[in-house]
Amino acid sequence: MGGTGQADVEGRALSDQPWGGRFGEEPDPLIDRFTRSLAVDSRLLREDIAGSRAYAKALVGAGVLTGDEQRRIDQALREIEAELHTESTDPPPPLWGRAGVGGLIPEDIHMAVEHRLREKLGPLGGKLHTGRSRNDQVAVDLRLYVKTAGVQLLEAISMLEATLIVRAEEHLDTVMPGYTHTQRAQPVLLAHHLLAYVEMLRRDHGRVRDALNRADVSPLGAGALAGSGFPIDRAALAEELGFAMAAANSLDAVGDRDFVLELMAACSMAMVHLSRLCGEIVLWTSAEFAFASLPDALASGSSMMPNKKNPCAAELVRAKSGRVAGDLVNLLMVLKGLPLAYNRDLQEDKEALFDAVDTTLSCLQVTARLVAGLRFDREAMRSAALAGYTLATEVADYLSRKGMPFRDAHRVVGQLVAKAIESHRQIEDFSLAELQQFSSLFAADVSDHLTLEGALKSRDVIGGTAPARVKEALARVKA
Ligand code: ARG
Repeated sequence: MGGTGQADVEGRALSDQPWGGRFGEEPDPLIDRFTRSLAVDSRLLREDIAGSRAYAKALVGAGVLTGDEQRRIDQALREIEAELHTESTDPPPPLWGRAGVGGLIPEDIHMAVEHRLREKLGPLGGKLHTGRSRNDQVAVDLRLYVKTAGVQLLEAISMLEATLIVRAEEHLDTVMPGYTHTQRAQPVLLAHHLLAYVEMLRRDHGRVRDALNRADVSPLGAGALAGSGFPIDRAALAEELGFAMAAANSLDAVGDRDFVLELMAACSMAMVHLSRLCGEIVLWTSAEFAFASLPDALASGSSMMPNKKNPCAAELVRAKSGRVAGDLVNLLMVLKGLPLAYNRDLQEDKEALFDAVDTTLSCLQVTARLVAGLRFDREAMRSAALAGYTLATEVADYLSRKGMPFRDAHRVVGQLVAKAIESHRQIEDFSLAELQQFSSLFAADVSDHLTLEGALKSRDVIGGTAPARVKEALARVKA
């Protein structure tokens, strides 16, 4: 029953495990299915081929392959990429099944490509893995994937930023209540509110960039753990694959996944921001707020209640933030306590990473669509700002500017607000004479401060909601 360790080029029923030389039994089907990762890591086909093509070149330099052998391997690898390039499925496409025997499917994408290479080239196909391990192979594939995915994330973040900026520019004069504790607090510009998310996204962009910079290191040539036994020019190999440098330590190169965690942490943070933004879309489109509505095309109905129009996409973005954070925690827990260097536990990194990237990318796109489509109700926002005693702080500031200690001013205006609530009025409804009953410091110029525009204008500091400051902030983020 021992494996032959040879490619089944004739389609004969031979065991085709690469470690067949050491083993005396066929794999148990349950264990085989359980340990196999092809359905997940088949997504790394392109990266795997790129890594192998570069590695074959390095093997020429190391004196393992002749130039002619390298060209034949390169050609075959390019053919395999074209043949196998298909969506991941389990069981995988017939071609991959054929590489194994009696339904034995290659364990992972690396074995699938190698099986096929040996089918095509015979023994020459078996030379490619010289001095290489799947441990440095999978690490290089994953770093290449992270670099591509990171760039897609950067683009999607920038797209949402641009959408928010467009909407902010349309609403430079739309006033809304700013909130703390979900209670109306002080008036702010809608543009200011939207630009707050742009700031968050700019930091998310920076975090993805940082993650990419640190991921930009080639593990190839680290071998299984101790470094390749062949004179591979690791620096040239790194350059060939577009990496900034070769990893400095072979154990670290194959044993760590911090670069995956960093990208997932950046995704998680971005998702928290999206979740908050989409949570606000849910609030704003409710009848209770009625600050905005979604076009029908961006909302969903109810199967039972004919009256309903639900912001389902926004709710799902809010929920999926938890899923991405879960992916991050998942891999943190996988890595915690693993002895150096490679452990099979690391195979679990890919499902979490792919899910985090796919989810974050789709949520960025969906959120941009929602933001672009929102129809803001300027009047509703303005009247909410007026109705919430949101000018109270401005009046207290007014008294302080006249010389009253702020603590006293706070108390005086608090009494004024209590009176207003009791008499079902707004502060701006009080006459000057009435105001003067609360403090003799009130003068005719208080009327300038009893308007939303007056309150906005006085928040005139860097980062404040004064219209001039918001215009400046907008110009800065547009640049
Ligand atoms: N499928 C494996 C993974 O994703 C590849 C490396 C397997 N290495 C090993 N020695 N079993 O981690």
